[in-house]
Amino acid sequence: MPDPTVTASTIDQAMTFIAARRFGTLVTSNAAGRPSAVPCVYAVVDAGDGPAVVIALDDKPKGVPVPELARVRNVQTNPTATVLVRDDTEDWDRLAWATIRGTATLVEAGKAGHGDAVAALRARYPQYATHGLERASQIWLHPTGASVWSAGGDIAAARPTDLTGITRGRRSVRSFRPGPVPREAVVRAVAAAGWAPSPHGTQPWRFVVLESRERRAELADALSATWRSQLSLDSQDPAEIERRVRNSRDRLVTPPLLVLLCRYLPDTHVYPDPERRAAEQTMATQSLGAAAQNFLLSLYADGLDAGWMCAPLFAPDVIVATLGLDPALEPHAFFPVGYAARDPSRRPRRPTEDLIARWE
Ligand SMILES: Cc1cc2nc3c(=O)[nH]c(=O)nc-3n(C[C@H](O)[C@H](O)[C@H](O)COP(=O)(O)O)c2cc1C
Repeated sequence: MPDPTVTASTIDQAMTFIAARRFGTLVTSNAAGRPSAVPCVYAVVDAGDGPAVVIALDDKPKGVPVPELARVRNVQTNPTATVLVRDDTEDWDRLAWATIRGTATLVEAGKAGHGDAVAALRARYPQYATHGLERASQIWLHPTGASVWSAGGDIAAARPTDLTGITRGRRSVRSFRPGPVPREAVVRAVAAAGWAPSPHGTQPWRFVVLESRERRAELADALSATWRSQLSLDSQDPAEIERRVRNSRDRLVTPPLLVLLCRYLPDTHVYPDPERRAAEQTMATQSLGAAAQNFLLSLYADGLDAGWMCAPLFAPDVIVATLGLDPALEPHAFFPVGYAARDPSRRPRRPTEDLIARWE
């Protein structure tokens, strides 16, 4: 039975927190109530009636047969269990943890959900590629309660502190809570971008920060004409065109902050031949992507989120003219920035081996 003092939103918050992290502790207890705590890795999966935390009983190097594991015996006699996941850091302002309490069940190979859970675990932990997870039983923890705590007070803004957690946790967010974005976080993100690789170290990109909603509304109005004429080229019906224009306008105006990233070529090398000139410009664009990623990761590590909009590529002159920018600034991307209104659904990632075209 769900714990009446725990709201569904606490369980959701705890699930979001643990899904963005990679290591936890599973606590079970035997019939006499003696607790056993073991480190675990896990995946959050859809159990049909809500999310569940799955832990595989993988091959143990020391060869302990699975039924003799204390956690297996415990779960069989006392299904109440807890998973604890913590952000441990010397910076106590960033400490955070979540516990999920629930009913644990053993799911054997071949049972419903087992295969999907194997896939979810392998997607999270490449180390599992060579483990015989298909044959291994799993512990599924079905949540009945949860607790969350963060030194910063907002568990949604507590972020993993390790590189893997940060690179995997960053996500494109398209809808934000109201509330200001701390200026220091934006400055830190631009500073992080400054450490991106760039051709000859020229740093061929600049950021334009737009806090003013009036300024953004002006920009959206100026862009609307271009959006309309481009969408009508796709023979879209007028109502759909208006819906999309409204949507793009909202994405510029409603977020707490909008950042425009521009390519900036004046300091790049100029070659006499068109091939090298073109290559230099491509390098600047490649470097802009690296700067953008550093910027986004820094925001994410600071508890913020951002989206990426390619709209500036299709109307750079309108943006430069409306904002009165230096004409050497070439608008490439908008980043709406703020605190996510909700967790966005993520596109699944290809298996890593698909991304390696050749290795010889
Ligand atoms: C160059 C570039 C342009 C993008 N343009 C848009 C865009 O115009 N609108 C949008 O909603 N997302 C845009 N995105 C975000 C992608 O859709 C998103 O990164 C992708 O779906 C993966 O999701 P994730 O960022 O949450 O991992 C863009 C991303 C990149 C790198």
